[in-house]
Amino acid sequence: MAKNWAPDTWRGKPALQMPQYPDAERLSAVEDNLRRMPPLVFAGEARSLKRQLARVADGQAFLLQGGDCAESFAEFHPDNIRDTFRVLLQMAVVLTFGATLPVVKVGRMAGQFVKPRSDDFETQGDVTLPSYRGDMVNGIEFTEEARIPDPDRMMQGYNQSASTLNLIRAFAQGGYADLQKVHQWNLGFVQDSPLGERYRDLANRLDETLGFMAACGITAETTPQIRETDFFTAHESLLLPYEQAMTRVDSTTGDWYDTSAHFLWIGDRTRQPDGAHVEFLRGIANPIGIKAGPTTDTDDLLTLIDTLNPDNEAGRLTVITRMGADSVESLLPPLVRTIEREGKKVIWVCDPMHANTEKSANGYKTRPVDRILAEVQGFFAVHAAEGTHAGGVHFEMTGQDVTECTGGAQAITEANLSARYHTHCDPRLNAKQALELAFLLAEILKDGRDSKPSLAQAGG
Ligand code: PEP
Ligand code: CO
Repeated sequence: MAKNWAPDTWRGKPALQMPQYPDAERLSAVEDNLRRMPPLVFAGEARSLKRQLARVADGQAFLLQGGDCAESFAEFHPDNIRDTFRVLLQMAVVLTFGATLPVVKVGRMAGQFVKPRSDDFETQGDVTLPSYRGDMVNGIEFTEEARIPDPDRMMQGYNQSASTLNLIRAFAQGGYADLQKVHQWNLGFVQDSPLGERYRDLANRLDETLGFMAACGITAETTPQIRETDFFTAHESLLLPYEQAMTRVDSTTGDWYDTSAHFLWIGDRTRQPDGAHVEFLRGIANPIGIKAGPTTDTDDLLTLIDTLNPDNEAGRLTVITRMGADSVESLLPPLVRTIEREGKKVIWVCDPMHANTEKSANGYKTRPVDRILAEVQGFFAVHAAEGTHAGGVHFEMTGQDVTECTGGAQAITEANLSARYHTHCDPRLNAKQALELAFLLAEILKDGRDSKPSLAQAGG
């Protein structure tokens, strides 16, 4: 257990990106309410995720993280939950086949409601108002009233997370995640994609494999692994009053767990080693992540790793790098080399979204799919050269047919962006773009696998 730590010790440290609530009494009433609400996740599930992540750290599994940049109250709909969950399953099947490794699935879902902002204020015309910080803090409408931080939004976020997670659990265990079905959806995608030819070979081989397994009697009826799946939730641990209220002692181990999600991460803007967000996360026993952008200092990262994972436990810590397509091959190697030389057990994950954001000529925040793919390729190239395991990917994506990122087989142009631009924060891959990237990534994973000597070739 962390020394000199309690769920509220973060309050003695500098906390960036935190809303200033004008109504302190209401804030503490909501915190009291939240403390009485049931946990959203159970500590045993967080431990199970940590065990699966320990396998990723050892190079025996791959991590797929994905979902909304910001979940919103407006987009809350069972179809949206279903569609994002479905694309993540489709991607996972493709990646499992490409890597011949188990894929650990973690959604940016059921709690991803709070956003760090580069600017505290937003100006439109001659009006300047506080920035939108996510639906759990204030409203996106550009009015003075909407932008006032409202503690009751935490309650609404909690309730929406509970309903979302309930549906996800039902899908994951109730037959919706049946491998045969997911594979049929993928065949449909390959059929309709303009780049389908490129993906057909992988889809056909998967088809044959599943057919062979069925002939051997391995079907949804006989085998729970075909019918069900594990699925975990994650969000940025930013709004500390909410996270603190959701933090409970696990009666079986006596450890503290943040029960708002299985996995929590610290954003690139709040990873100061002596800051409040690091202080909070060091004391909870969940698996956690650190976002590392281009300004990450190697010594700071080492300090963070020692603070957050003093026992060097595998599966505890994931470093999610987001360097940008042009910089990943120069900025990532020194970090990887130092951390590996020091023997630190971390999972390396690539977020190819956050450092590849551009403004289109017509004023939309967007991300070109080819830049996203380029960062993933650079990330894999670095790990191949360093002899380390490229452990996973982290995407902002949705199951909906939005037009927020440019490119892909649908060839979304800047002029198309206005058609269905719905995000509450950063541009997301749509369902087809996300699945295409999974197919391209499966090729990279397969090539990596082919270039390593197999056990048989090595005489093992
Ligand atoms: C995010 O993941 O939405 C985010 C804000 O990322 P970062 O902290 O890496 O900028
Ligand atoms: Co984002």
